[in-house]
Amino acid sequence: MATEITDRRAAGRPHWSGRWAFVLAATGSAVGLGNIWKFPYMAGESGGSAFVLVYVACILLVGLPVMVAEIMLGRRAQRNPVDAMAALADEAGAARAWQGLGVMGVVTGVLILSFYSVVAGWMLDYLALSARGGLAGLDAGAAQARFGALLADPLRLLLLHTVFMAMTVVVVGGGVARGLERANKLLMPVLFAIVLMLLAYGVIWGDAAGALSFMFRADFGKITPAVMLAAMGQAFFSLSIGMGAMMAYGSYLDRGASIARCGLTVAAMDTVVALLAGIAIFSIVFAHGLQPAAGPGLVLQTLPIAFGDMRGGAALGTLFFTLLVFAAWTSSISLLEPATAWVTEKTRITRPWASLLLGAATWLLGVTVLLSFNAWQEIRLFGLGIFDALDYLTTNILLPLGGLMIAVFAAWVMQATRVRDELGMRGPFYGVWRFILRYVSPLAIALVFLNLTGLLPRL
Ligand code: PHE
Repeated sequence: MATEITDRRAAGRPHWSGRWAFVLAATGSAVGLGNIWKFPYMAGESGGSAFVLVYVACILLVGLPVMVAEIMLGRRAQRNPVDAMAALADEAGAARAWQGLGVMGVVTGVLILSFYSVVAGWMLDYLALSARGGLAGLDAGAAQARFGALLADPLRLLLLHTVFMAMTVVVVGGGVARGLERANKLLMPVLFAIVLMLLAYGVIWGDAAGALSFMFRADFGKITPAVMLAAMGQAFFSLSIGMGAMMAYGSYLDRGASIARCGLTVAAMDTVVALLAGIAIFSIVFAHGLQPAAGPGLVLQTLPIAFGDMRGGAALGTLFFTLLVFAAWTSSISLLEPATAWVTEKTRITRPWASLLLGAATWLLGVTVLLSFNAWQEIRLFGLGIFDALDYLTTNILLPLGGLMIAVFAAWVMQATRVRDELGMRGPFYGVWRFILRYVSPLAIALVFLNLTGLLPRL
């Protein structure tokens, strides 16, 4: 039974004040720890250019088309991701089971937030440390010991994780206009300014040439199935797609705005920030003879040495960690938003309470994550610690799977006329987008999955 979605403006549903508010919020969601903490260390671990190359290909062939699709689904339905998928499935005469995509997204968001908040807590700690001049004179051994000591201190991690979750809950509880939109309008301009300042520092005083050749000199030999999956997962993670964050944000968007243009802007800004942050960070890393392949501790174990060693390092370090905290904050709110919107719209629980309850559940899960660095270090899930297992499950499996389902739904299940009407795209762009979403993106995701499980001959 196909029923057109008619109540397009459910009574009292909040909206962004305009197209730019949406673009800013979606960019705030996309630009996060993924760009400044994760991207550089993953590139550093996977041989630099090989990873960067596959990553950019994934953004273009999978990330951008899926992002446009996800925003489109949200805006058409004007509902939280779970109800959105139900309404859209009804409209298309498809099985209600598509709701499962929404539920999976809500759950994935909570799972990601549980470890995201713990990592953001590290950034809070280093922000406080550099602000009181604690980085001065740190050498490599001391920097490593400092990070190790933080991980070994569950109470400290708990305090930091709690502070960050509280920051997230307050904004999400504040609602779309007074919470999400206001936070992004305040934080994002500062964030861009700091990225540019760091870049200027890296280019003027760091080893920018070394950074550029490390990141961009093509080395195809290093492209393995594992690198491909990591790069694709990272593309999903960095763009905030595959779990309903963009669907939820899109559902607060007015009809007039061009989704394709918004999506393009967000994806471009996200990629540019990742690349610029990478150049800034590796310039500093190489100028100080540090290791690019330091793993998750890269920005915490190596950069503080550089900050401790340079003139004005305390100020630059403070700026850098401010950047990380702000970036994490505007992303964490989008991880909690789909679940909060669902509970708020489905039950009689008010938004502040919904955000608090869900935040508390996420916080509890996060406690297991922070314990996995110390007391529960021995616990293994599929051979990985709790932190690594959650990261792998969400980034490399759930997000690409969600993205695959979004692509299939938007390009195969929904009626083409409705899709076209919602996008308002004209000319060849629509055809290109649809072709990629129909064939290229699903195939690419499936191939990377199959390739990894060894079902295909190794490339
Ligand atoms: N995109 C965010 C980052 O790069 C993380 C995120 C993933 C946010 C998924 C929302 C949804 O840090």
